[in-house]
Amino acid sequence: MSLVFAINGQRFELELSSVDPSTTLLEFLRYQTPFKSVKLSCGEGGCGACVVLLSKYDPILKNVEGFTVSSCLTLLCSVNHCSITTSEGLGNSRDGFHSIHNRFSGFHASQCGFCTPGMSVSLFSALLDSTSSSSEFTVVEAEKAVSGNLCRCTGYRPIIDACKSFASDVDIEDLGFNSFCKKTSLPRFDSEKRVCTFPEFLKDDEIKSTDSGTLKWCSPGSVEELQIILGACKANSDVVSVKLVAGNTSTGYYKDEKERNYDRYVDLTRIAEMREIRESHNGVEIGAVATISKVIAALKEIHMFGKLAAHMEKIAARFIRNFASIGGNLVMAQRKHFPSDMATILLAAGASVNIMSLSRGLEKVTLEQFLQGPPLDVYDLVLSIEIPFWHHEASSGDLVFETYRAAPRPLGSALAYLNAAFLAEVNLDTKEIVNCRLAFGAYGTKHAIRCKEVEEFLSGKLLTDNVLYEAITLLGKIVKPQEGTSNPAYRSSLAQGFLFNFFHSLEKPGHHLDQPMLSSSQHVPIDKEFYPVGDPATKSGASLQASGEAVYVDDIPAPTNCLYGAFIYSTKPSAKIKGIRFKDNSVPDGVVAVISCEDVPKSGKNVGFKFASFSEPLFADELTLHVGQCIALVVADTQRHADTAANLAVVDYETEDMEPPILSVEEAVNKSSLFEIYPFLYPQQVGDTLKGMSEADHRILSSQIRLGSQYFFYMETQTALAVPDEDNSIVVYSSCQIPQYVHSTVATCLGIPENKVRIITRRVGGGFGGKAVKAMPVAAACAVAANKLQRPVRTYVNRKTDMIMTGGRHPMKITYSVGFKSTGKITALELEILIDAGATLGLSMLMPSNIIGALKKYNWGALSFDIKLCKTNLVSKAIMRAPGDVQGTYIAEAIIENVASSLPLEADTIRNINLHTYESLALFYKDAAGEPHEYTLSSMWDKLAVSSNFEERVSIVRVFNEFNIWRKRGISRVPIIYPVSMFATPGRVSVLSDGTIVVEVGGIELGQGLWTKVKQMTSYALGLLKCGATEELLDKIRVVQSDTLSMVQGNFTGGSTTSEGSCAAVRLCCETLVKRLKPLMEKSDGPISWNKLISQAYAQSVNLSASDLYTPEEKPTKYLNYGVAVSEVEVDLLTGHTTVLQTDILYDSGKSLNPAVDLGQIEGAFVQGLGFFMLEEYITDSEGLLVTHSTWTYKIPTVDTIPRQFNVEMLNSGRHEMRVLSSKASGEPPLLLAGSVHCATREAIKEARKQLRMWKGEDGPRLMFQLPVPASMPVVKELCGLDIVESYLEWKSLVNSSL
Ligand SMILES: Cc1cc2nc3c(=O)[nH]c(=O)nc-3n(C[C@H](O)[C@H](O)[C@H](O)COP(=O)(O)OP(=O)(O)OC[C@H]3O[C@@H](n4cnc5c(N)ncnc54)[C@H](O)[C@@H]3O)c2cc1C
Ligand code: FES
Ligand code: FES
Repeated sequence: MSLVFAINGQRFELELSSVDPSTTLLEFLRYQTPFKSVKLSCGEGGCGACVVLLSKYDPILKNVEGFTVSSCLTLLCSVNHCSITTSEGLGNSRDGFHSIHNRFSGFHASQCGFCTPGMSVSLFSALLDSTSSSSEFTVVEAEKAVSGNLCRCTGYRPIIDACKSFASDVDIEDLGFNSFCKKTSLPRFDSEKRVCTFPEFLKDDEIKSTDSGTLKWCSPGSVEELQIILGACKANSDVVSVKLVAGNTSTGYYKDEKERNYDRYVDLTRIAEMREIRESHNGVEIGAVATISKVIAALKEIHMFGKLAAHMEKIAARFIRNFASIGGNLVMAQRKHFPSDMATILLAAGASVNIMSLSRGLEKVTLEQFLQGPPLDVYDLVLSIEIPFWHHEASSGDLVFETYRAAPRPLGSALAYLNAAFLAEVNLDTKEIVNCRLAFGAYGTKHAIRCKEVEEFLSGKLLTDNVLYEAITLLGKIVKPQEGTSNPAYRSSLAQGFLFNFFHSLEKPGHHLDQPMLSSSQHVPIDKEFYPVGDPATKSGASLQASGEAVYVDDIPAPTNCLYGAFIYSTKPSAKIKGIRFKDNSVPDGVVAVISCEDVPKSGKNVGFKFASFSEPLFADELTLHVGQCIALVVADTQRHADTAANLAVVDYETEDMEPPILSVEEAVNKSSLFEIYPFLYPQQVGDTLKGMSEADHRILSSQIRLGSQYFFYMETQTALAVPDEDNSIVVYSSCQIPQYVHSTVATCLGIPENKVRIITRRVGGGFGGKAVKAMPVAAACAVAANKLQRPVRTYVNRKTDMIMTGGRHPMKITYSVGFKSTGKITALELEILIDAGATLGLSMLMPSNIIGALKKYNWGALSFDIKLCKTNLVSKAIMRAPGDVQGTYIAEAIIENVASSLPLEADTIRNINLHTYESLALFYKDAAGEPHEYTLSSMWDKLAVSSNFEERVSIVRVFNEFNIWRKRGISRVPIIYPVSMFATPGRVSVLSDGTIVVEVGGIELGQGLWTKVKQMTSYALGLLKCGATEELLDKIRVVQSDTLSMVQGNFTGGSTTSEGSCAAVRLCCETLVKRLKPLMEKSDGPISWNKLISQAYAQSVNLSASDLYTPEEKPTKYLNYGVAVSEVEVDLLTGHTTVLQTDILYDSGKSLNPAVDLGQIEGAFVQGLGFFMLEEYITDSEGLLVTHSTWTYKIPTVDTIPRQFNVEMLNSGRHEMRVLSSKASGEPPLLLAGSVHCATREAIKEARKQLRMWKGEDGPRLMFQLPVPASMPVVKELCGLDIVESYLEWKSLVNSSL
């Protein structure tokens, strides 16, 4: 019996008996086929990097149906007779790229490219859907097309524009900045125009049910067959374990299920009657294996159930709903207490469940009975779900149905904090509630419940404020999350808010506001002075990234005999390691070795990080220093075996006689556990704060702020491949930002000379600082294992391990005192900053100057500080994009807000009055301040006020807040100053005999567009020879991978200036080449073509390879970047959800080297900052172990969380001789501008609190409050008042009674 399917048109036939049924489609694609466009990023259905198109042929309807699935959860055996299309199957470099690829490239929608193949397939599928349903693909559809796909680089705006460019109702002129010169000539989507369509051979074969009785995988074709199989399994239940499989998506949540190996997998999806959706005059009966997408489509056709369908569209992402079944969802909810939406909404809908039990036969139970019953037996089958038509139940009143969910992402792809659904029969004239069904779920309850006490209380009552108040109070006592649930009070208050909203809107029908559509504008100056530098050229290799052919480290074909590693990390912050073993004391499948510090060669050192004179251990030796510390690397024959083995590893610890670990900065200070900060890295104080304080009219003393961490969430996790080479040398392919130091780390670790180590890095799937220091131990561990075993060793760290081991931003505690005049002018600021650096120093020494660098954006009068780098037993922190700077800007804004509140004046007034003049700037920034004309911030501050209509909108917001009770808006304008430094960067330019050019640079392409800028610079600098068109030169240039033996002194990629430095280095090389070629040019009579010139140069042995090292000593090494942002938000007071309505950014990018690339950096950085300020909760347990370590709990921004109106203007601040072709940095500074969203949210909360105080009758001075980071929904709601609904109703009844 075989498994037949096609991948990109290619037939695959596998003996079923040879396939491990737990193999996922992704594992097969990545490890057993050449198709590598399918990327692994989370492995749990939460990111979309692995999305493929699955097509099936319906022999009865004779049509092909295609839909997306996440290949990391789909089992290979489930794709029998299916055709799979990956992004390279849509189009590729050999057969021609698909128009989707070209648009991703043309709209600058691919940066690191790791998400782009998945995005492309998701878009393709959405387009296919509309073609097959003959409906138009509209901009609304376009926005939803990629709503579950994560991208950490672009900020989504260009991706959405690429999607919208296919919409029938789009005004192409409204789309964002792109590189299609003739916008109107974009061709329409043609579903047939792709490389692979559905293969004919899959249409011929009849799909038969498979059960030989011996195979592990069986696909019964009928319930009868299924019963026989289950009966046989049950009879042998002591030896045969069995698993029913529908979509298998539950393994994204229950990960241990992924690792379990069952004796029998019973596929339910071939049973036609379990897939059917039938409508009768009583209601709808839905087969349990009907996918959620099919259920949505069916329910949309029935008017009464439209809201059920709309709610279901918020379950997971489309690529999950397409394969996930309704029955699977309910079984998860019933058996494992999964926080299901389906269970809650169907409970309110009065659904019942048909169950087939081997022992009890067929049974029909209400959903409530089903949920309350004992966990379903493995042999029990959910056959179907019935939803009754409600009008049969109604007696006299009108039926009203509504569903609710509060989740960090409005469009789904996030579990709800609480969900609810209410069905009520109400007499809308008399406002009598005849009866109602109130269901709540996902709030930390075993399963969705009906609140019968409240239902009974409300039934027969007239809807009044008092009745509502009592109902809500009663509800608050019932909806109580179980112990251990996060944010319990918040969840209870959500239930009250939703119930209030439901009944209140019956009383006073309001209109429900949908999430506003996305729109944007970009004003990008194009400067042709140094053409093609300054041209918005598309990103080098963007189409290749979209088709998925771009090669990342894990895409490099595995060398023969390759082994795979997975880390065993410490779960104790400070303990003695007594030993490592595996559970049950048996070595798991495939394990070859466990590599630890004992395996570091005698001549080497146990070093996992080496930078200048600093080093850190690779493996924990006898003691652990922190949770998440690397203890060992399990090496096995496959990555899956290695990961499973690492999970099964047990480390025996001893904590007796150990000092208690240091788990806070306060403890570190008490125990004097501090890292030394070298004086040259310690920032300079400004002025005399004692004097400043004495001049102040007001003082705020010892106010405290705390800031947490943020995880990088690069889409490609840490990875390396080490290959032993001849003569005791080694080659390591590493996804890293500083190959030079990976190189010296590996050499030191192995105890071999540096000339025997070679580190190769072609491209990195997102770094954001996380692949600087933290990539080194991954490379070093692979190298140690490869050296010991003398076999290639590869490690692709899984998401959870990556999140736990890599750490993130530096948390810190800030205590400040500030003095200010009554006008708002600040006269002095004193700070104490305690930075949690973690257990090792890493690059934390950069933090003090970075924090202060960004904080000095205001003229504080005088500034003094005491900064301590605390050494704790927590994971070592890394320098994440804008490290320290983002905290510095936050601290500054928190102080401004505090000053404003205590005067009271508007925060914008305080900002305005304390903005630097050039004189104060020069005082605060000294050598970095530049010339007076370079200080553009104060004019940008005014300019943005005009272009964003700031003053008028402030008034509109005020009026809005006056007339809206449950939604409040805030608007804020925030400036930033961001110092950057240039550093030494090498480059080499070589011309080959056919005139093509190869360029090497020290910088690494991380998605930031470095290669594109370097190509443009090479073309410009060689173009100065003036032979032939520069465009032709541009096409001849290839930037190649970084190779540490070819290009030494590569330095590091980070700090926002690597592109400039690399361009400067390349320019020096080109100048040398031009000098060498000029004499030949001059000798020729008349114009000479480039190719001819190069032929002559070859003939005359002119050296056509030039390398150089750009050293910034010749120029100022530091300069300041400026930007301003205005953000407007709306807070929903019932849920605490914040919608960013509009953001306007003005950013000084100098003469941009490539405005398209810089625009992408500005938008992408801003959205990453938005994640830090608003969404990403980095939560650890009491020992420091990260708890939010998956896509289920760690929520980076998605399409639906970015500013609905996103306007960016880049300012060309003109010529500057001392900078690289007058350019400025764009990689990190704009991240700080996201602080404007946080400040605007605070403004909105202020309004909410003002209203609440009025309801509560509180007068007296306003209480100062701090808005923590991130300002997540629970945080915002808590500040707006968890008791807001009760307070409102109490106030109303008081008002009513006084009338
Ligand atoms: C990233 C992601 C996000 C999600 N977000 C949400 C969300 O916000 N809200 C929400 O409600 N859900 C959410 N889900 C859950 C999703 O809806 C379920 O995973 C899905 O419905 C399960 O269906 P399945 O067909 O894949 O089940 P499977 O994984 O195949 O099965 C689940 C379990 O049920 C058993 N089973 C399956 N079918 C039957 C049957 N007919 N009879 C008896 N036993 C059966 C299986 O043996 C297994 O134990 C999310 C899932 C993912 C992956
Ligand atoms: S890797 Fe499959 S969804 Fe993330
Ligand atoms: S381009 Fe989307 S993750 Fe990098």
